[in-house]
Amino acid sequence: MPLDGWDHVELWVGNAKQAAYYYEHAFGFRRTAYAGPETGVRDRASYVVEQNDIRLVLTSALHPGHEIGEHANKHGDGVKDIALRVPDARHAYEEAVKRGARSVREPEVVEDDFGQVELATIATYGDVVHTFVGRNGYEGAYLPGYIAKESAFGTDDGPGLLAIDHIVGNVELGHMNEWVSFYEQVFGMTEMIHFSDDDISTEYSALMSKVMTDGNGKVKFPINEPAEGKRKSQIDEYLDFNHGPGAQHVALQSSNIVRAVETLQRRGVIFLSTPDAYYEETPDRVGEIAESWDDLKRLRILADRDDDGYLLQIFTQTAQDRPTLFFEVIERHGARGFGDGNFKALFEAIEREQALRGNL
Ligand code: FE2
Repeated sequence: MPLDGWDHVELWVGNAKQAAYYYEHAFGFRRTAYAGPETGVRDRASYVVEQNDIRLVLTSALHPGHEIGEHANKHGDGVKDIALRVPDARHAYEEAVKRGARSVREPEVVEDDFGQVELATIATYGDVVHTFVGRNGYEGAYLPGYIAKESAFGTDDGPGLLAIDHIVGNVELGHMNEWVSFYEQVFGMTEMIHFSDDDISTEYSALMSKVMTDGNGKVKFPINEPAEGKRKSQIDEYLDFNHGPGAQHVALQSSNIVRAVETLQRRGVIFLSTPDAYYEETPDRVGEIAESWDDLKRLRILADRDDDGYLLQIFTQTAQDRPTLFFEVIERHGARGFGDGNFKALFEAIEREQALRGNL
């Protein structure tokens, strides 16, 4: 099952026009394509926004009773389609279905003056799907049926986010291994073994996680399930408000996370805060890094190290009212992990501050 990488992530939302504005203005995406009533599509409006290799599609329904509106009603704004670029969409689909995937959309070739694209879709956890996209040298803005659309404003001061690093799925208690097997069997993915103390990360993070990756390491799917921890699992909260499994966060790569976070903050993106106490132990735990610890502390960027190097990361608050989907900015310096060491360090830091207030 050869994958060329991520093609796009489609979010089904209550109001795509306003969602597009948010991703453009807050996250620095550039609008590139559009489909809706003006282009002959009668039931939905879709806005395509891009930043380097990241492409998001924001879609909402135009009439009641539509599956897109029903999806937004049930789950809130969230990820519907994690679309993967493949050399041959029909082959990928047929192989996936043969290996046990549920079909959502049979292979279909769509075309316009700019060429042809082949699309086929299978189901994954919750109501999320994977569309296989075979672009075959298509030269249009996005897909046949869409018109090219430029943002009305420049993106010179954008945060410079480069590509999708990983997309995390949250599934119900006891179902993580089922989805691990799904990605093994259907996609031929393998579990990434990364070194962490499972008991400790469970105790502090209240989640269990396994990471599935394709052969060339371009596509990485961590799968979380809730676990008993020191506090109610954040995964349980997600499952309650998403009304089932779904995509928890999309991690976006940066090559200058300090500048990226400064820019995103200036544009109004709100990140999770981290207590001062975290930065007392982190330089010892992580060791030498190229960045200034003062910058990391000022911006509340987290750091972790594994056998291959270190990484810097930060998480946004959820991108909608429901405590469901959020984003991560990640900068890797060799490290191939996902920041597991931060769970323990973060919770210990929170507890140290709690103790200072006499509340522990
Ligand atoms: Fe992540």
